[in-house]
Amino acid sequence: MKRLTLLLAGAALSLGMTLPASDPLTVSEGDEHGHDSSASAPEGPHDRPPLDVVLDIHTDAWLRAPSEDWFEAQAELDPDRFSYVDDLLDIDGDTEGGYQDKLGEYELRYDAEEDEIAYWQYISADRLTQGRRDYVQFCSSCHGFDGDGYGRSGQHLRPPPRNFTKPFYKFTKVPGHLLPSDESLILLVERGLNGTPMLPWALSRDQLNDIIQYLKSLSPEGVGWRDVYSEVGHIVESDGDPWTGREAEAIQAGQDVYHGTAKCYSCHPGYVTPEKLAEINGLPAGSMPRENFTYPIAKITENYEVQGVPMLLLPPDFTWQDVRAGTTPLELFETIGAGIGGTAMPQWKGSLSDKDIWAMAYYVRSLIETYKGHPEKRAEFMSSLRTGR
Ligand code: HEC
Ligand code: HEC
Repeated sequence: MKRLTLLLAGAALSLGMTLPASDPLTVSEGDEHGHDSSASAPEGPHDRPPLDVVLDIHTDAWLRAPSEDWFEAQAELDPDRFSYVDDLLDIDGDTEGGYQDKLGEYELRYDAEEDEIAYWQYISADRLTQGRRDYVQFCSSCHGFDGDGYGRSGQHLRPPPRNFTKPFYKFTKVPGHLLPSDESLILLVERGLNGTPMLPWALSRDQLNDIIQYLKSLSPEGVGWRDVYSEVGHIVESDGDPWTGREAEAIQAGQDVYHGTAKCYSCHPGYVTPEKLAEINGLPAGSMPRENFTYPIAKITENYEVQGVPMLLLPPDFTWQDVRAGTTPLELFETIGAGIGGTAMPQWKGSLSDKDIWAMAYYVRSLIETYKGHPEKRAEFMSSLRTGR
């Protein structure tokens, strides 16, 4: 709660108030406009919901759950709760096996209209209300009261706050064509996004969990978590860092993959001289793959837009721009492995070996550590590439 407590305390001090001893996040029952009618109760700065904002949700939701592998793993962890049943569903006389959750939160269901079987997660209206209350309190100023990304404070932010009615996420480290798991979303909100107004949020796990369920429930019918064909994925995994203790070697290998097999420079800047590039790719000296090789190329994406205008995204130059989702080798492995959902940045896990992805994680980190925050050193390095010296 560090950052939040500070924020609340700051706001209270500047208003000359004391913080209420009770949970300052509890939103009291209001009249039809959401106003607190019990005038006698002391109000914390965040106690009162904004005008005309409905906080209560009256409908339960069924949202897409992870796939069978996930249930298999859960059944191993908690066999009292999850078990495999051979004839769980009976569809037109045929039986279908699947995992059963004794608590009833997850269910394998048959969608007759689409003729599809899928796992779903039940979220009660109470839980959605809890999530919505915290969402309105903490997130709506940027992400909007309806989760569409047009909050009052978010209207002029670029990149814009995420629109939760669309199924696209960039930094959850889950391969981009899949929906992010609950865990990946919670970690993202706890970690925040470097260099953006999306700060790390020190809320409790229960609060985060409820907020996440609420965000998922913003999917319109047939989209995202309400689409029977959606798949929920997980943070990309690695069998361990193959370069431990050999960091310098990893950086060299990473530089070669970045400028060779992976061709990261087709969007991000290249960071080697033309001679070196030719050497890595076994090409005649002096042949350049593109103009302005040491500059990134902006990419347009329809999936992220502001009032119908598609965003132009600049693949970051690691020597000075922010990498949002963390810069440890593991974080970079996961980000590069998963790609950036809904953008040009592809998933690399699967098309490159884990060893190569790890090597690039070390290489990208070395660019960040050597040049970011050292503008003179960076200028010298980049101009040495540009003049070919
Ligand atoms: C001060 C503005 C602001 C507030 C408050 C805020 N966000 Fe964000 N959020 C952003 C911006 C901006 C982005 C997009 C960053 C980008 O695309 O680089 C974002 C992105 C996100 C993403 C998507 C990340 C992805 O992988 O695509 C999630 C999830 C998210 N926010 C959740 C929350 C939650 C939950 C809260 C409240 C606890 C919250 N945000 C509060 C500004 C904010
Ligand atoms: C087809 C274009 C394209 C290619 C190829 C590409 N990227 Fe990206 N990359 C992007 C875009 C676009 C973004 C920025 C997304 C945003 O911030 O909205 C990005 C972002 C990143 C980020 C920052 C993520 C963060 O947390 O902010 C890293 C790291 C990265 N790319 C590494 C790589 C590496 C390594 C390669 C080669 C294996 C690569 N990229 C290849 C387009 C590309």
